[in-house]
Amino acid sequence: MSEEKSPRLYKNQQTADISEAQIAVHWQEEDYFAPPTRFIAQANLTDASIFERFSLDKFPDYYKEFGDLLDWYKYWEKTLDTSNAPFWRWFVGGELNACHNCVDRHLSKHRNNTAIHFVPEPEHETVQHITYQELFVRVNEFAALLRDSCGLKAGDRVTLHMPMVAELPITMLACARLGVIHSQVFSGFSGKACGDRVSDSESRVLITMDAYYRAGKLLDHKEKADIAVTEAAKDGHKVDKVLIWQRYPGKYSSPAKLVEGRDIIVNDLLKQHRGERVDPAHMPAEAALFLMYTSGTTGRPKGCQHSIGGYLAYVTWTSKYIQDIHPEDVYWCMADIGWITGHSYIVYGPLALGASSVVYEGVPTYPDAGRPWRIAEELGVNIFHTSPTAIRALRRDGPDEPTKYSHHFKHMTTVGEPIEPEVWKWYYNVVGKTEAVIVDTWWQTENGGFLCSTVPAIHQMKPGSAGPAIPGIHPVIYDDEGKELPAGSGRAGNICIRNPWPGIFQTIWKDPDRFVKQYYERYCKNPKSKDWRDWPYLAGDGAVQAADGYYRILGRIDDVINVAGHRLGTKEIESAALLVPEVVEAAVVPVADPIKGKVPDLYVSLKLGLQAAQEITDKISAAVVFEIGAIARPHQIIIVPDMPKTRSGKIMRRVLAAISNHLDPGDVSTLANPEVVDKIRDLVK
Ligand code: WTA
Repeated sequence: MSEEKSPRLYKNQQTADISEAQIAVHWQEEDYFAPPTRFIAQANLTDASIFERFSLDKFPDYYKEFGDLLDWYKYWEKTLDTSNAPFWRWFVGGELNACHNCVDRHLSKHRNNTAIHFVPEPEHETVQHITYQELFVRVNEFAALLRDSCGLKAGDRVTLHMPMVAELPITMLACARLGVIHSQVFSGFSGKACGDRVSDSESRVLITMDAYYRAGKLLDHKEKADIAVTEAAKDGHKVDKVLIWQRYPGKYSSPAKLVEGRDIIVNDLLKQHRGERVDPAHMPAEAALFLMYTSGTTGRPKGCQHSIGGYLAYVTWTSKYIQDIHPEDVYWCMADIGWITGHSYIVYGPLALGASSVVYEGVPTYPDAGRPWRIAEELGVNIFHTSPTAIRALRRDGPDEPTKYSHHFKHMTTVGEPIEPEVWKWYYNVVGKTEAVIVDTWWQTENGGFLCSTVPAIHQMKPGSAGPAIPGIHPVIYDDEGKELPAGSGRAGNICIRNPWPGIFQTIWKDPDRFVKQYYERYCKNPKSKDWRDWPYLAGDGAVQAADGYYRILGRIDDVINVAGHRLGTKEIESAALLVPEVVEAAVVPVADPIKGKVPDLYVSLKLGLQAAQEITDKISAAVVFEIGAIARPHQIIIVPDMPKTRSGKIMRRVLAAISNHLDPGDVSTLANPEVVDKIRDLVK
């Protein structure tokens, strides 16, 4: 179906996303699935009147219920302060500590519960079961090391570039204990990408690990720290100390040399801090807990700053009522802690509730697609959380694998991308054995926690739809003119949230103007207003709302590509390509992929007189991997004689996206160089 014929197609200006919208829009309306009665009988939230208690006229007082899930040293005076809109301040006057809430407060009742099950990728290595008691000891010792051996104090920033190991949550919680702001960079990102984030956050200390397992190989990771320090130095930023955890305590597993005076082996130094205890810092609710860098519309990733009180309250509440986590549950979120999902729903949410959280080191399909189900069976996992990309891969590689294992999930989550109804049904029938409720949760790095999802014991499930908003969240879909699109209109628009919520990020680190501009300016009713009603939050996704109130998310309206559920900026990839001297123009478009959802195709044109050559393609690919990481490696690099351009010289990404996705590019006669379209199409074939 062409764009024009589809009444529900979302038409945006930056049409790089058109294929995403098309794919989602063409899904049929699906039948409902009812939550299993066994699930409802034990669920934390079954009272549908919650939506009345959380209606907009009771905002913001209903968020008291969120804050009350935490322990406070000092109770807050004001739930929400809007005096510096849109820089919302939650639980003002309150004091708490995130580490105390995730560790210390569980010691009286759950001291011997497992807090973290660490599952190494090599299957012959022993799973570590770290109790809350042991977590308490290890976090305290490491906090003492950070404070006394590194001189870190509340408000300092520290960059972590750590793989999926138990030491990562230990490191985060030790920072939180001191009030130190952590900034964890996804371990798959390159040393250069890490260095950019080190200098932007002005971290004097970088914490890493020597090596980790990925797809059966022990990867050297320490070398990335050396690159990060060198790259940060180019920005004029000096790193004083690199702390290196050992993947195998007592043994250094990297060929990279240690730099004298800078590099410290954590496992050695920890011996000096054995048995030490550090009192949790009494932190203002409004202090920052962490930064999480994410891709946006411009080249440089932005550091989303999340608060201690609001963020922790939000992830704790949503973990309890949307994930349905009870302290006796064994919960496994297969995301990486290097992304927001891992921060909120591997570390902070589940641990704040005293549950057991699984940390798995490796890839889900290693050594085979039965691995996740073996882990689930062995550990008694009863809540499972992953992304459509992982589900698609597990389904492709082992469609019957789940039937071979005796795992039983009561609850399953999908997050990060739209999930195709067919894939949803495999998840439900085969992985979940029709026993589990499924929530499709829509949210973003900026949001702290879920925005849209069914409430698992209250709502029916509808494959492919994220569901209505969760209690307390009041979305609205605006068209480009700012008109509200009602439920059931069949039209797509820009999804916004009318009200602030405690999990919303506080600002972009060192860039408050961009914060206002990117998220609030578009539909702001009055820039001088201190009334939250005038400041709808622009999520940056296209969406349609069905007559039943369920939202279907169609994908980004800006220059962001969701590759396998990981956010990458097209501009970041293009900037990397432009570092290759032969390249004069670069354009990245998303291509639909059966497993990863989206992958980036990179179109480049070369300096006059240069011919396409494999050598140049290799250089471009290497540049992208160096600048960002292997995750951004283009699916195809297409060297074109010229970019399709408007008469004013703008690259028509829409045309390139159509070619890459084998769709009709539509009318190209108004281009400055329409003849190039066929030439490019031949190259892509
Ligand atoms: C997309 C991940 C459809 C969306 C938590 C959003 C989704 C971006 C869903 C944020 C979902 C996330 N259905 N699309 N359930 N969840 N997205 O910041 O485009 O890594 O804007 O946060 O992922 O990605 P981020």
